[in-house]
Amino acid sequence: MPEYKLTPEGKVLLPMDDGTEQEFIFTEELIPAYTLSDPLVMNDGCKITTIDEWRKRRDEILNIYENHVFGKTPEIPFNLSTTVLEDWAPAFDGTARRKQIQLTITTEFGYHSADMLLYAPISDVPVPAFLGLNFNGNQSIEPDPNIILTSSWVRDNPQNGVIYNQATDISRGSADSRWPVKMILKEGFALVTLYYGDFDPDYDDGFQNGLHAIFNPPGAIRDGSSWGAVGAWAFGLMRALDVLENESAINASKVTVIGHSRLGKTSLWAGAQDERFFAVIDNESGCGGSALNKRCFGENALAINARFPHWFCQNFHHYNDNEASIPMDTHGLLSLIAPRPLYVASAAEDLWSDPKGMFLAQKAAKPVYEFLGKPGLPMEEFPDLSKTDLTGQQAYHVRPGKHDLTLFDWTQYVRFIKRHLGEE
Ligand code: GCU
Repeated sequence: MPEYKLTPEGKVLLPMDDGTEQEFIFTEELIPAYTLSDPLVMNDGCKITTIDEWRKRRDEILNIYENHVFGKTPEIPFNLSTTVLEDWAPAFDGTARRKQIQLTITTEFGYHSADMLLYAPISDVPVPAFLGLNFNGNQSIEPDPNIILTSSWVRDNPQNGVIYNQATDISRGSADSRWPVKMILKEGFALVTLYYGDFDPDYDDGFQNGLHAIFNPPGAIRDGSSWGAVGAWAFGLMRALDVLENESAINASKVTVIGHSRLGKTSLWAGAQDERFFAVIDNESGCGGSALNKRCFGENALAINARFPHWFCQNFHHYNDNEASIPMDTHGLLSLIAPRPLYVASAAEDLWSDPKGMFLAQKAAKPVYEFLGKPGLPMEEFPDLSKTDLTGQQAYHVRPGKHDLTLFDWTQYVRFIKRHLGEE
């Protein structure tokens, strides 16, 4: 967190990118009183009593998220094709294998491509997989010289080898602490990753590039519920799953979608829309992800929409300084993943993303898991540091440290998924 001042009421004043200062809440005492809508009650007030009714309620909640938060994924026809850039080749001294595939999405308005990197253990049977987008290009996840260096626009990061928005060889392996590939492979999983900027470069360009360019006709007028960048990234994850369905080395019915931070928001949205995902892992998604918006703790709607105007749909901007009127808070988004396994995790020093708000959202989604006949979140109280309980379909932890995706986090995720695969 940058240098800050306190207001007389105890709010924190933080400088914004545009030179203004904004007030933020970083203490539980200052959280406004709020009520959460019941995910098991229809918009018209009727209580859900059957699975069929839940399916209708699920559509209502999905609709709220499409109209008020992430925007609608366009329904125009598209074609997905693939080119194998590198077929299964030995990796890690022959203990595993690597494949690289280019995906191309074509609509009547053009085409757009993304590179997919797969690592898999040596196995005669299809293996379960983790699928996640990365922030700096596939080459950043592992210092493997065979990984194709992205030629796409990447956020500048000279320290990590991204100069003038182009990744260089220095960027190879720069994010490897977030991707413990060997451990994942050793536990019997494949790891599949793609660069998020291949689906939509992460800057506000008025939705002219990335997937937006080929899904929205040139000159088309966007409305309040037109999709934003998170929507495009989530679409990319769903297309990656389409490709995995045709990949014999992978068990596509056992693909866990994982994401950190803005990509945690993305993994939740992909898992909510696409029930083919076996499980969802949200690492520190915070505001606009799993943290309860109505708590206004740490990052709030005004701050996120001001700094990242392209992430959400325009209607989400109506909730700036107005979180109380959000029709369905983030427990609704989490309930769209029920009854599938869902892990939400935080870091104690990452107050900006409201660790407690993420825990409370998991807890508030628990009745939906139970309604669907599955054990939900096993912990009643906000847990001690690093404490986990993997006995339910939902899990949560808060580990010491800063905003990051660490080996500790991955170790819990692997154990959690193995349990749900009946392997632990
Ligand atoms: C910023 C932003 C968060 C986001 C994070 C990230 O901190 O405020 O909402 O999750 O970036 O994606 O790293």
